[in-house]
Amino acid sequence: MKLFLIATSVSILLAHSALAGDVKKGAKAFKKCAACHSIDAGGKNKSGPNLYDILNRGIAASEGFKYSKKLATFSGDNPQWTTELMDVWLKNTQKLVKGSKMRVKVKKVADRENLIAYLQSMGN
Ligand code: HEC
Repeated sequence: MKLFLIATSVSILLAHSALAGDVKKGAKAFKKCAACHSIDAGGKNKSGPNLYDILNRGIAASEGFKYSKKLATFSGDNPQWTTELMDVWLKNTQKLVKGSKMRVKVKKVADRENLIAYLQSMGN
């Protein structure tokens, strides 16, 4: 019984640390996104939309950015970027929204977690 409890708390600890992305590492990983995205408040749209406060502001909602029809339609059914949805998007944008203008695959789970932690830190 005691052993079982120890095993359970260890696995909870592991699961928890696996969820927590590293903001600094995320900022570093974001450098390749920055070719197409600004992320500061009020930053201008580049070839991709500004990403400030992206996890709170809604999908395809950067003012003045011309989104693809596919992503605009997708946002009708999925108004909000949750962390879960962001993970699926970054893993393979074309698999989530076929025909979207962004073609990126971030294959490593840890890279995606770090990126999401960074995105979360750049917002309200
Ligand atoms: C080559 C350019 C390019 C790169 C590199 C790129 N993106 Fe994008 N991104 C786009 C474009 C273009 C869109 C708009 C897609 C559409 O309209 O279908 C977009 C859309 C997005 C959106 C949805 C924005 C919204 O307003 O809902 C997120 C989130 C995003 N990108 C995150 C990232 C992250 C994180 C990275 C780095 C891992 C990245 N992007 C790399 C071009 C890029």
